[in-house]
This record gives sequence, C-alpha cells and structure tokens, in this order.
Amino acid sequence: MVETFYTIHSCPVSIALVTDTHNTPADAVLNSLRRRKPALILLAGDFVYADPPTAPGRLKMLESRYALLLLQGCALVAPTFVSLGNHEWMLNEADLELMHSYGVTVLDNCFASIPPGGTKVCCGGLSSARFTAYQTWRRKQSVSFLYPEPDRTVWAGKPEPCTGWLDDFERQPGYKILLCHHPEYVPRYLQNRCIDLIVSGHAHGGQWRYYSRRRQEWRGIYAPGQGLLPKLTEGIHGNHVISRGLSNNTPIPRLNNPPELVYILPANEQGSTQQESG
Ligand SMILES: [Fe+2]
Repeated sequence: MVETFYTIHSCPVSIALVTDTHNTPADAVLNSLRRRKPALILLAGDFVYADPPTAPGRLKMLESRYALLLLQGCALVAPTFVSLGNHEWMLNEADLELMHSYGVTVLDNCFASIPPGGTKVCCGGLSSARFTAYQTWRRKQSVSFLYPEPDRTVWAGKPEPCTGWLDDFERQPGYKILLCHHPEYVPRYLQNRCIDLIVSGHAHGGQWRYYSRRRQEWRGIYAPGQGLLPKLTEGIHGNHVISRGLSNNTPIPRLNNPPELVYILPANEQGSTQQESG
C-alpha cells in the first residue's frame, strides 16, 4: 500500500479517503490512519464484496468481518462517513443500522454536517445506481427473505443514480464534500454542480497501469463503467479526487498499481509525497 498526499488549498480539514477495501484485512490502513490522524475519514464505497451472504437469515455485514473492523477502527480515529458502492447492492436497513452502531455515518443519497448542525463542512453520499435500483426492486417484492435474488429486470436498461437530493445539498452552508463511488458519474451527472470536493474510487486505477511516452503519464487499461483506456482512474481532476483503491476483488492482479490510501490536506498541512492542486 502507498500513501498519496494531495494539497487542496480551499479544503478546511485534513481528510483520509478510503475506498474499495472489499472486506479484506485493513491493518495497514488503520495503522496509517492512527499515525496520520486525519480530521475526517471518507469511505467512498465497496467496503464489502458483492456476493450475497452464505448463511440464510444472516446479515451480510455480520459476514463481512473485516469491513466491520475497518468501520470500527476508522470511527475511533475520526468522524467517518460512508457511501455505498456497487458491491454494497444487497445491504438492507438492518445492515446499515449495524454499521451506524459501529460509530460511522452512512450517507445513502443524503448529507450530514460536521459537527452535527455545524456550518463548516457538509458531507453527502451519492449511492451507486446498482444499490438504489436493487433497493427499489426489493421494496416491491412480497417475499420475506433478507436478500431476495434479483431477477433480470433489476438492473435492466442501465439504472441511473438518484440525484434529486443534490439540489438541497448544494444549498447547504460550508465546504461541501460529495462521496461518489463511481468516478464516471462526475462528467455524466455532476457537471456544474456547486460542490467543493468530490471523492471517488471504483476504477482500481485501471487495474493494469502503463507509462504512455506520448502522453508522458501513467494510464490505466480498463475500468468498469469506462471501458478500455479510462480517463478517470486516479489523481486530481479539478475538484475531483480519485483513489486507486485498497484491494482487488478480481482474479486479475494489479500491475504497476499498488493499493493506495489517499490523504487530502489543507494548505497548512503537508504530507511526504505531495501533489498539488489549486
Ligand atoms: Fe466499485
């Protein structure tokens, strides 16, 4: 794992961006967080793996031991906000309540201020459309299973994320940070929105990375939702910060692409491998 530090001069607090841990042991992440002590921790999706639970009647989050340890560990370091990625599609209300009981704030297409009722920072969480579409479908089912098996209609026709609440989010006072697991949502749904900072993961850095002599930059090979040679796989793009993520959930190994824990620092704090952004 590498630690990457970005300075964003307008950002009023230090932030750790944790993404794509996929229920893998997170000791290195937690050790780094305890050492760096960010003011805010943002978990921008894919903290579990997408398989439904193996035991009937058992909560998915209870089977995701490492994810719970991560949430608990983060909450002991700093206020922690969590948004939902595509791998969280099956989580139900009991799962989310369990997460809350570990001390984190889950943002499912909603926002919250820090401190509660304060006017300095407001965090919002834009859930993956895969999560939102399954929740909508499940509410219409008469079965009492915790996780009814989705049929072909659930994700047919490319479901859209729920963006209506963002109008209200934009009107909130203070520095507005949006957790948006999917980086490809930013050009598609978030252009011209009055949001100070957007943080994403999901692309895993493009899985295999190579150095393009022509462009004089490292590039990813493939990312879900963006296809081959994706543009949004890591780094700073205006007000958008993307982490390469902290784990790997495919049989295809990462190449030239170590897992990454991102820190976003205000102007008066410095990291060790600094990258700058206005
Ligand atoms: Fe993802």
